[in-house]
Amino acid sequence: MQHPLVSVAKDLARGFETRAPKWDKSRTYCWQNVGELAASGIMGMSIPKEYGGQGASFLDVAFVVEEVARTCALTARIVVEANMGGISAVMGYGNHEQKAFCAPHVLAGDKPAICITEPDAGSAATDMRTTARKQGRKYILNGTKHWITGGGVSKLHLVFARVLDEAGFEKGIGGFILFADPVGKIAPAGFNVVSRERTMGLCGMPEAELRFDDVEIDEKWLLNPANLKHGFADLMSAYNSQRVGAAMICVGIAAGALEHAKRYLLERKQFGRPIAEFQGLQWMLADMDTQVHAARLLVQEAARSRGPGGSLYPDMTMAARAKLFASEMAIKVVSDALQMFGARGYSDKEPLERMYRDVRMFTIGGGTTQILRTQIAGSVLGIKTSQTRDGYLPDPELMRQAAE
Ligand code: FAD
Ligand code: COA
Repeated sequence: MQHPLVSVAKDLARGFETRAPKWDKSRTYCWQNVGELAASGIMGMSIPKEYGGQGASFLDVAFVVEEVARTCALTARIVVEANMGGISAVMGYGNHEQKAFCAPHVLAGDKPAICITEPDAGSAATDMRTTARKQGRKYILNGTKHWITGGGVSKLHLVFARVLDEAGFEKGIGGFILFADPVGKIAPAGFNVVSRERTMGLCGMPEAELRFDDVEIDEKWLLNPANLKHGFADLMSAYNSQRVGAAMICVGIAAGALEHAKRYLLERKQFGRPIAEFQGLQWMLADMDTQVHAARLLVQEAARSRGPGGSLYPDMTMAARAKLFASEMAIKVVSDALQMFGARGYSDKEPLERMYRDVRMFTIGGGTTQILRTQIAGSVLGIKTSQTRDGYLPDPELMRQAAE
């Protein structure tokens, strides 16, 4: 049975469609949409009921994401990050205090920012240099994070860092809940929003560089401190849910593009008849429709799946497969839809121009298609595909400094 919020999302998506060009052109965050998502219960719908959410499954969220993404990919990204990724890591690995702190912010409209990437550690996320060094009952955070979605508007940040003990020896990569509200001008000392990228698409979403200079974080905000040795893998397991969400955004954008193409094919006449009568376009449309269906099934399978060992999160390979296929499919489908519009598709009179720019990101952000193919190949072959020559190890430079 469909979650009731799916039809709510469908209704809201009409307003999102009207306003989408505004956020795109003005490069402003869609606060009005966020207000509507929060009022409807979509923000944080996956948060368990005891923390004020609806306990919705990742599959339920995925259906909502598709409806929103059909008209506004920017808003769909907010739905994903308010239910999957960072917040799902807190709900899965957090203790009561951490969950009780984060849930109300998300339910009220905050889209947590997940801070993994650094200027010199993109695909090679395990090369990150951000450190959190223990000092009494606090950690001192230092480092730079790049391409942080929502940087400058988000309040909750899940920051991945190398956790060092008081002597400077590395214990593993851990995730810290860091609260900073740059809009409300409330931020801990040393928290800096350095710059914002001028992106090709999804222009209403800030993609920012954040710098932490001796930011103090109480030790109680470290997720799952007892399992730091496996901390990175655990955090990435939670991140699989965000990959599923990103895949569903692609399905939604492609399904939206298909609808526009259908409309135009029936409306536009050339050679005295609707262009829908030309078999060249009919076959393109049939392929687009089939590809969207195939991707949707892969995403649904991934959203239902769970990783090994009683994991709360989608299976790594299924999530990778869904995002790989859906992102490449959506770029092709949106491009073909634009082609069907002829010159009109190239103009901002039609949403396809924006959708074409928006969809391009999804083979890059959240794990590139090359990285995802490597993970899938590893699973098919049954081998480890660590790209770090000796597997993930403590940072040798930090270890040298600690030993001195
Ligand atoms: P690089 O890793 O430098 O890769 C360059 C090229 O080399 C790519 O084609 C890549 O596929 C290829 N490559 C690299 N290693 C290999 C390999 N081993 N085998 C084969 N090919 C390889 N990060 C966050 O932490 N939080 C966010 O909120 C966030 N949001 C983002 C939003 C957007 C719009 C974008 C574009 C990025 C975002 N990112 C975010 C960063 C994103 O996750 C990285 O861009 C991504 O992981 C790739 O890293 P990179 O850009 O540094 O590319
Ligand atoms: N789900 C579950 N576990 C995962 C995982 C995932 N998606 N990705 C990696 N892991 C685990 C590995 O199984 C391994 O666990 P182990 O130590 O128990 O064997 C551990 O994490 C390290 O992975 P490995 O592949 O050995 O690391 P690497 O040093 O070669 O780094 C990654 C590769 C994981 C960083 C790279 O594959 C990747 O995903 N890069 C993209 C980063 C990204 O998505 N950023 C998005 C920012 S928003």
